[in-house]
Amino acid sequence: MDHFLVTGGAGFIGSALVRGLLAKGADRVVVVDSLLTGYERNLDEVRGAVDFHRADIRDYDAVRRAMEGVNVVFHEAAIPSVPRSINDPIPSHDVNINGTFNVLRAAKDAGVRRVIYAASSSAYGDTLVLPKVETMRALPKSPYAAQKLMGEYYMSVWASCFGLETISLRYFNVFGPRQDPTSQYSGVLSLFITAILNRRTPTIFGDGETSRDFTYVEDVVGLNLRAAEAPATASGKVFNAGNGGRITLNEAWALLQKFEGVSIPPIYGPTRPGDVRDSQADTTAAVRELGHSPQVSFEDGLRKTLEWYRATTKL
Ligand code: UD1
Repeated sequence: MDHFLVTGGAGFIGSALVRGLLAKGADRVVVVDSLLTGYERNLDEVRGAVDFHRADIRDYDAVRRAMEGVNVVFHEAAIPSVPRSINDPIPSHDVNINGTFNVLRAAKDAGVRRVIYAASSSAYGDTLVLPKVETMRALPKSPYAAQKLMGEYYMSVWASCFGLETISLRYFNVFGPRQDPTSQYSGVLSLFITAILNRRTPTIFGDGETSRDFTYVEDVVGLNLRAAEAPATASGKVFNAGNGGRITLNEAWALLQKFEGVSIPPIYGPTRPGDVRDSQADTTAAVRELGHSPQVSFEDGLRKTLEWYRATTKL
């Protein structure tokens, strides 16, 4: 079996991917993580099978060392968040663009076969048509979106100029267990879930009719595993990694109130700068070329996630 490396492997999505790879039979998975937004505890259950390198992806030598003998790299490390990239643009630029460049350079130098990249649905910006298809023109609205799009361009150029196989997966608002709810920049569902469990009022930015294609983390893991095995004809391409649905923030909060049997009206605040209004993935290309098959509906995923937070969070 291939040897794998996951950058950002102690993060929410990266650690789910590490567990997915081990469950599929990988005997050793290398993790590179700076622990800036990730936590070693996310890898507790699998610590013995993980070769953990605490390193920043901007450190070429450390990344190059970690890639020795690796065939497939999943590049998940990033500084996420649209508002964070507006309030504090330098670190996100540096990690998301220069760090990605370093990962590609080290991968090529180490003889890695394929890099699979965590791209973002934010690249689309506000398109007139839904769902969003990969052939649409990208219209990034925030530094974060522009950085993630630059990463896609670098991926395809490394494929065409340097013969490294690369696949970019545009993640659509991934949610699930282990998403960190402790920052103002945390994913909205992690904030909503901790609010409902604590019977606190959430803030909804905008009128609540903003919509997202919330995608359960295990479905994103499944797609990554398929991308690792896809034929070389998929190299250099970009694929949506979404569920195909569309849920408004008002609907998500209503569902959580229903699950908990409570009524807590939200506070509405101003729309956040850089926010995309609507987001929904066309999954056709990922289904056809990568065999993508999302398994978890929004409602089931939300219920599983709620139960995970209930079981693991001190209220
Ligand atoms: C964006 C990307 C997503 C990427 C993520 C990384 C789009 C469509 N999606 O997510 O693919 O993974 O960046 O950070 O661009 N909100 C509230 N109350 C809160 C917090 C957030 O109403 O307390 C709102 C936001 O204003 C936004 C929505 O919820 O309208 C989703 O926000 P968030 O979870 O931060 O993700 P995106 O910015 O959509």
